[in-house]
Amino acid sequence: MNHWQELDRKFFMNTGHRRLGVTLVRGEGARVWDDQGREYLDFIAGWGVNALGHCHPVVVSAIREQAGKLTQVSMDVYNVPQVELARLLLETTGFDKIFFASTGTEANEGAVKLARKYGKLHRNGAYEVISTLNSFHGRTLAMVAATGKPVYQAPYTPLPAGFLNVPYNSLEAIQQATTDKTVAVLLEPIQGEGGVNVPDDDYFKKVRAWCNENGLLLILDEVQTGMGRTGTLFAYQRLGVVPDILTVGKGLGGGVPISAILVKEKAAVFGPGDHGHTFAGNPLMCAAGYATLRYMLDSDVPGNARRMGQYFTEQLKDLRKKYSFITDIRGRGLLLAIEFNKDWSAEIAKECVAEGLLLNNMKPNAIRFMPPLIITIKEIDEAVGILDRVLARVSSPDRSGLVIGEGVKV
Ligand SMILES: Cc1ncc(COP(=O)(O)O)c(C=O)c1O
Repeated sequence: MNHWQELDRKFFMNTGHRRLGVTLVRGEGARVWDDQGREYLDFIAGWGVNALGHCHPVVVSAIREQAGKLTQVSMDVYNVPQVELARLLLETTGFDKIFFASTGTEANEGAVKLARKYGKLHRNGAYEVISTLNSFHGRTLAMVAATGKPVYQAPYTPLPAGFLNVPYNSLEAIQQATTDKTVAVLLEPIQGEGGVNVPDDDYFKKVRAWCNENGLLLILDEVQTGMGRTGTLFAYQRLGVVPDILTVGKGLGGGVPISAILVKEKAAVFGPGDHGHTFAGNPLMCAAGYATLRYMLDSDVPGNARRMGQYFTEQLKDLRKKYSFITDIRGRGLLLAIEFNKDWSAEIAKECVAEGLLLNNMKPNAIRFMPPLIITIKEIDEAVGILDRVLARVSSPDRSGLVIGEGVKV
């Protein structure tokens, strides 16, 4: 453990694990460097944030320029970058109104507040939100209640009331949970953190129809699937349904914290004083967001995510033919996962670090890939080559030479 890591251990409550054990100091494109000068291919990308890679020139220059002009104002005034980003997002998607926040959790929390106000105004005070088991919507108390994972919920009970967690990919479960108290259904188009779980294609069409029949709002949480990650700008565009409320985060700022709630007119019920954050519409973040989205649209970055996702999936399928302990390859675009019939993912991730590849071991038996969306075939080949060598080593009868614990070779 080096100097920075010792200080980190001393200062922080151990919420972050720091599972990969490296201290990153620089990034460019799909590559990052640690404090020892070692280079890595980054297939975590700040947990699916660095859509254009690290320090993309258009994002860096937008931040530089805006930092010299105006970085923060209050919600009591107008500011230009937030209007520019709002216009681009709304014109591109066809939503009617927007609200900016900083994190995905805040966007979801705001979306639920919005739904509750809608319930007060239009649904006799209905307030319950149906979300799904294995979902992930954030870590505030209300979003922990929405996140259907008992392990995240147990330490914090009693949780805020008004959330029902039902099985994913089941319209029947949503139907059974719906009562006259229900105001909205909150879903991820693909469950990201919960395991890259891809539902049936018609699930969302059926849920949309159920929401229409029963006057419920459909909230799609695209914090992880949005901003090109799954091969279209937003995953809902491929699903053939339009939500009433869409939440966006992660990739929106190209690496800086900004999120948004996009709303159809009928659900745009916030009025003066109903909601706000100190940093809502922060000009610096909005300038970075505008540069990111402009580049993404002009260069068809979602198209690259789609093509590279297909290529990457084929390479992973080839690995599956080679290693029988790989049981599943799933996902869409550049949100992909590989699953094993053994709890080897921590070991595999550690071994990959030693070979210069950063991966997210999201479950004991599964790894998630979220590379930057500007990734190339050459970089995918390099990553797959590393993975191939590591899988061979981890599964060989002679397991000497494996990295264990704090990066020590045995
Ligand atoms: C689908 C989804 N919603 C919400 C969040 C929370 O976003 P944040 O961590 O920016 O608050 C995440 C984070 O991983 C997510 O994947």
